[in-house]
Amino acid sequence: MRPGVAELLYLIAAVCFILGLKRLSHPGTAVSGNRLSAIGMLLAIVVTLFDRAILSFEMIAAGMVVGSALGLWMARAVKMTAMPQMVALLNGFGGAASLLVGGAEFLRSELVGQNLSLDTSITIQLSLLIGAVTLTGSLVAFAKLQELMSGRPITFPGLQALNAAIFLAIVALSVYQISVPESLLWPFYAVCALSLVLGILLVIPIGGADMPVVISLLNSYSGIAAAMTGFVIRNDVLIISGALVGSSGIILSQIMCRAMNRSLTNVLFGAFGGGSAGGSTKTAEGLSVRQVGPEDAAMQLGYAQLVIVVPGYGLAVAQAQHLVRELGDLIEKRGGEVKYAIHPVAGRMPGHMNVLLAEANVPYDKLYDMDAVNGDFERADVALVIGANDVVNPAARTDPGSPIYGMPILNADSARSVIVLKRGMGSGFAGIENELFYNPKTSMLFGDAKNSLAKLVSELKTLS
Ligand code: TAP
Repeated sequence: MRPGVAELLYLIAAVCFILGLKRLSHPGTAVSGNRLSAIGMLLAIVVTLFDRAILSFEMIAAGMVVGSALGLWMARAVKMTAMPQMVALLNGFGGAASLLVGGAEFLRSELVGQNLSLDTSITIQLSLLIGAVTLTGSLVAFAKLQELMSGRPITFPGLQALNAAIFLAIVALSVYQISVPESLLWPFYAVCALSLVLGILLVIPIGGADMPVVISLLNSYSGIAAAMTGFVIRNDVLIISGALVGSSGIILSQIMCRAMNRSLTNVLFGAFGGGSAGGSTKTAEGLSVRQVGPEDAAMQLGYAQLVIVVPGYGLAVAQAQHLVRELGDLIEKRGGEVKYAIHPVAGRMPGHMNVLLAEANVPYDKLYDMDAVNGDFERADVALVIGANDVVNPAARTDPGSPIYGMPILNADSARSVIVLKRGMGSGFAGIENELFYNPKTSMLFGDAKNSLAKLVSELKTLS
């Protein structure tokens, strides 16, 4: 490739990434944004392989066929509810790549007796540390979400001190390796091994349900590791794309924490979730719930002027998104208005509800962010809560002892009536009671969301 051509093509790839990210920020342009970023990535991969003449044409073509086939299969086969662990695994691969490239570059320089510059040596050590932590941390996150290991926080006295000691040892060994060029290889292997252990120890004390935030953070780490590797092998597109992943992962982690009214420190060190939530959790002794049948619930929905649907994690579990759309269409056909209220942390991953409803072709202009829709609940005839719990729990406003106190919620309790679809009185992610279910204007329609919605749809069809 002529000098400068690869850099120009890398620049085009980087522009594709940035414009793609911009388009991903709105549901209407997200699909094209995803495509644009994928084209940028394809360009970057092809240019790298050709430019460095690392592989033959046949190898490049074979790799692309195998990689595309695997990607296509995963995109189609993996269930929406299993997306977080899938992302965790992919992050882990990103970390592994940085670890391998950084390690290979170090060993290559040792083999040929080349003296590395100070900046390259530092970035190699950072690639090793961050890449290894990302790899094992992501694998633990994957194992927790896939239920290969317990989702409960695993912790023991002195864990934080041990982590700090390991980190300091890694820093000391790295400094030694950099400052004594003729040093032996063992500090290199020790840095790799200790960093792999650190990744495990950092993630095991975090509860399974907090994993989405951790995954977003590890995603950010994998980006930083990739950027470091970009400095090591002097590859501009790797530096730019790594920096983009690193910064967007941090921003996403912060958005999630804010929406849960938790700090990142609390997520990382609070051992929350997996059944160990702290704080007072009001019990509902002496309170009773009002049950409703599909017939009566359909009647309420059929004659409502405004219905606000509040989807939650249970909707994703039940995979009932297509029935929600059908129900919405039927209500609208009868002259009612339907809005979908999206809480930023409804479900178990960022944008979970948007993706779920988009899959069922719910028009995105009917999806409303929390701040945009909260004022509408007062004039809603029915708030239809489907498999959501914590995101509509008034304890977040009223009970200072509650673990979710201060978390912004959807004001479903302000609607004239509330219909809740869930299987029983099970709690949500935070593991606490929800007084909305005992509110006199709330009716509970018990059952799997898919079954209940199917019944509501067929009842609504029979209404004249
Ligand atoms: P949750 O509070 O987790 O409640 C889900 C409810 O769905 C449960 O109470 C469960 O009750 C019900 N359910 C489960 N399977 C069902 C099915 N097949 N049919 C009908 N109902 C079913 O959900 P949410 O309101 O969406 O809140 C999300 C929670 O996750 C928040 O606390 C949030 O902080 C946390 N979180 C979210 C994220 C992101 S990024 N989204 C990340 C980390 C943590 P039954 O068992 O009685 O059916």
